[in-house]
Amino acid sequence: MKKKQIIVGNWKMNPRTLLEARKLFDSIKKETEGMKTEVVLCPPSVFIGDLALRTGGKSLLGSQNMFFEEEGAFTGEISAPMLKSLSVKHLIVGHSERRAMGETNEMISKKIQAGIKAGFTVILCIGEKERDSESAYLQKLKEQIIASLNGVSKKSLIKIIIAYEPIWAIGEKATGFVDSATLLETIIFIRKVLNDTYDQTSAHSMKVLYGGSVDEKNASDLMKEGGVAGLLIGRASVDAKKFVTIVKIAETI
Ligand code: PGA
Repeated sequence: MKKKQIIVGNWKMNPRTLLEARKLFDSIKKETEGMKTEVVLCPPSVFIGDLALRTGGKSLLGSQNMFFEEEGAFTGEISAPMLKSLSVKHLIVGHSERRAMGETNEMISKKIQAGIKAGFTVILCIGEKERDSESAYLQKLKEQIIASLNGVSKKSLIKIIIAYEPIWAIGEKATGFVDSATLLETIIFIRKVLNDTYDQTSAHSMKVLYGGSVDEKNASDLMKEGGVAGLLIGRASVDAKKFVTIVKIAETI
């Protein structure tokens, strides 16, 4: 049986204007309408309110971030009730670019708990800075998973998706790429950590995505052989043609 894949577009701080954002959003929406693949678009938060009016009732929108308090004196932050009021369904938490700006595992764990409480599906990003021959990076991944999920009950895991995003494979500065065999090994390791922390059922049922230099050429292999439930896409997600091609590939998996 074909599995329904999840394709998440993390637009990061793109595009430059609302008009461009509308154009990108509309063309992806139009081209992917009626497909079984779950498409989630995460635009910059300033555009969400406008784009929410263009979803046509579909749960297409995700947020790149959210603060853990619900309201108050937190300049520049956005809260769960705000995002809920704009029909946002998914929430990216702990992206490496936010961790690099000072977000700690403790903050991430608070955001996850606030996100679950508000009813979002939380996409938790994890990933190592570099790979070493002694496999110390696996310990780093384990620490990230355990610390981020601190305080999250077994029952709530159903609302969490893990996105494995090795930092060295992300963005323009990527120094390498994860082939599907390496990806599969890492996904198995992530499930082992979940098994040791929670139980076998949780480890088995948790959805894990991959992100880092995904494009229309490598998407098929990663989804077919990498043991993932879908992809988290940066650069290729702000190119409607490339992104739609990836969603079409996901349809065939
Ligand atoms: P990239 O970014 O696809 O541009 O490498 C992925 C991400 O950071 O989510």
